[in-house]
Amino acid sequence: MNQQQLKELLAQMSLEEKIGQLVQLPGYFQNGGTITGPAGDLGLTQEDLRLAGSYLSVIGAEKTRALQEEYMAAHPHHIPLIFMDDIINGYRTVFPVPLAQGCTFNPDLVQQGASVAAKEAAASGVHVTFSPMADLVRDARWGRVMESTGEDAYLNGLMAAAMVRGYQGDLKKKGTIAGCLKHFAGYGAPEGGRDYANVELSLRTLKEDYLPAYKAAIDAGVAMVMTSFNTLDRVPSTANKWLMRDILRDEMGFDGALISDWGAVGELVPHGVAADFAQAAQLAIEAGVDMDMVSPSYAKHLKTLVEEGKVDEKLIDESCMRMLELKNKLGLFENPFRDAAKEEEDALLLCEEHRKAAQDCAEKSFVLLKNEENMLPLRSGQEKVAFIGPFVNNKFLCGSWAIFSDDQDTVTLKDALEKQESDSCISFAAGSRVMDRDGVVQGFQKQIPEETLDEEFALSQAIEMARGADKVVLALGEHREFSGEASSRGSLTLPRCQQRLLDEVAKVNQNITVVLFCGRPMDLRDVQNKAKAILVAWFPGTEGGPALARTLYGHCAPQGKLSMAFPWSVSQLPLHYNQLSTGRPFHGDYKAARFGSKYQDMPRFPLYPFGFGLSYTTFSCSPVTLNKAVLKKGDAITAAVTVKNTGHCTGTETVQLYIRDVVGSVARPVRELKGFRQVTLRPGEEKEVCFEITEDMLRFWDIHMNYVSEPGEFHLFIGSDSTTENKAAFTLEA
Ligand code: BGC
Repeated sequence: MNQQQLKELLAQMSLEEKIGQLVQLPGYFQNGGTITGPAGDLGLTQEDLRLAGSYLSVIGAEKTRALQEEYMAAHPHHIPLIFMDDIINGYRTVFPVPLAQGCTFNPDLVQQGASVAAKEAAASGVHVTFSPMADLVRDARWGRVMESTGEDAYLNGLMAAAMVRGYQGDLKKKGTIAGCLKHFAGYGAPEGGRDYANVELSLRTLKEDYLPAYKAAIDAGVAMVMTSFNTLDRVPSTANKWLMRDILRDEMGFDGALISDWGAVGELVPHGVAADFAQAAQLAIEAGVDMDMVSPSYAKHLKTLVEEGKVDEKLIDESCMRMLELKNKLGLFENPFRDAAKEEEDALLLCEEHRKAAQDCAEKSFVLLKNEENMLPLRSGQEKVAFIGPFVNNKFLCGSWAIFSDDQDTVTLKDALEKQESDSCISFAAGSRVMDRDGVVQGFQKQIPEETLDEEFALSQAIEMARGADKVVLALGEHREFSGEASSRGSLTLPRCQQRLLDEVAKVNQNITVVLFCGRPMDLRDVQNKAKAILVAWFPGTEGGPALARTLYGHCAPQGKLSMAFPWSVSQLPLHYNQLSTGRPFHGDYKAARFGSKYQDMPRFPLYPFGFGLSYTTFSCSPVTLNKAVLKKGDAITAAVTVKNTGHCTGTETVQLYIRDVVGSVARPVRELKGFRQVTLRPGEEKEVCFEITEDMLRFWDIHMNYVSEPGEFHLFIGSDSTTENKAAFTLEA
């Protein structure tokens, strides 16, 4: 349809119909679908259901086609439904969780993953995914760090834009779905790392650190945006007119559809800013929230609000138009079923090509934190390796948001090793449960299977196996339901049962590699003392097993870099490498800096910093050279280093560029990531790596809240992680 036809359609619609377009109902109204939030009786009538413009969490080509047909036939103007779902790290073929994808430092790979997810989901009748999540995260207690790509705004922006390109491509084409950017805004900074808690951010921090990644997704053309649950400056986002109209639309240029998070319009009542659902509806529509996800507020109250003159019908028209425009962008008026087809599902879901892509992404997301005495790679056929731990033969490797996957499709580490290695050199034991018996695991979207294991027997069997092996690989980690939504943690250590396994194994065999499965940075102090090697596998997805088997045996070398630091202890949180300069900095010398910004009883810095990750080979990096020392506006400086593979196998290094603005009109971060390049080098090979520095890379929100650069001195660092001291200085000319 063209714009004129859409306008004509809008003009013909009744007020009820228009409001219907602003309502999204969960799948359980259609006997199925996954529940991703608190479900209750919404008190809706058959008429509300008949007119609701969207369903959430309904999937399957046959099901969506049938629903669409039935719905459109009954709808007064035969307007198609729009199906939206959480396709977070894949649909049926699951990729590593987003935090792990961040560690690839490879936006093209992330784009490819999103495009695979889009193809599969589109074939199952999905039109919109609630992804990317571009929330900046600095506190590993928050369970949803798993869904973010990490602690750096620049990296997050690249990844969010890559996901948008991957999902959407050209929305008129086959195999695409619309993206929905979330959670606007600042949701990644809840007090105490507790999900849904208040967010306290200065306007400058919001603009400088938190908004850029959302902006990158908007600039990439994301079709939808979702509001966040949190308050910002004490106003819940879903009622925040300034945030949604002045910032999101006017300042950031978003002109697509805005949806609330699950139940967030109704939650304005418990937030205490609305007395009832009617007032909540009024606040949200005035703020510019076009669609109410799963609350009765719009469906039950907007009509009366208009009739009583409390809400201008123009607001309804404006929002309805945006929803019609979205449906039109997706081509739903011409083809309401889009790609939904059983044959397409059969051909695409979990096809070889998709599994390969997921495996490739997993391999590139693993982060090697430690590797002493060449513990890794393991030598095939030459050493006896005992694979021990509750994640060795565990199919729950997809993370808590892979809600449309089937765990049975996951290839475990054991499955993959049995295929790859000869039986005589490998043995397997569970050794412990995943969770302590008294630990509480609340399933969010999926049923949690009961763990049945004779713990004492399993432990003694594991110890015997470890005693007889040359090396032990311990597959440990957190329960998949311990990260994700509503899964904040107060401690970041291993469960007691797994800690005991580690302690006991370490008594009989010191050649330990820990492979860590997790959705967040954990406290690895003790693990680091007992293990000679640590490989972070995250929740690696459907092909996690083969990816790990290949990596452990050196068919590929780890190349991931931490997109979020592993803290020394939970007490350091929130933590981020790009902290502001303080008047009393601390550089690590406890004797010299009595009054430095530090702790008396524990280190100031994380155990493993942002950007850190080893390979099976080693790299050297030459001092930085600049082609000039003064940067003029409109011009560029080239900074160069030579990176050399100084080890014995081929490897990929991510060379990172950080910049520090030495004097600013407001305090500036000690350094900020401004670029990175990946180079793959054979042993002995070297390559020059160059970065162009331009004035726009130096801009920030100055003392007057203008986004400008300020002339003066800058330091530039190029190296293999955020702590590099490989430095050069230049001046930005006035
Ligand atoms: C989450 C969103 C999600 C939505 C729909 C909410 O609880 O916060 O991220 O997209 O549910 O499932």
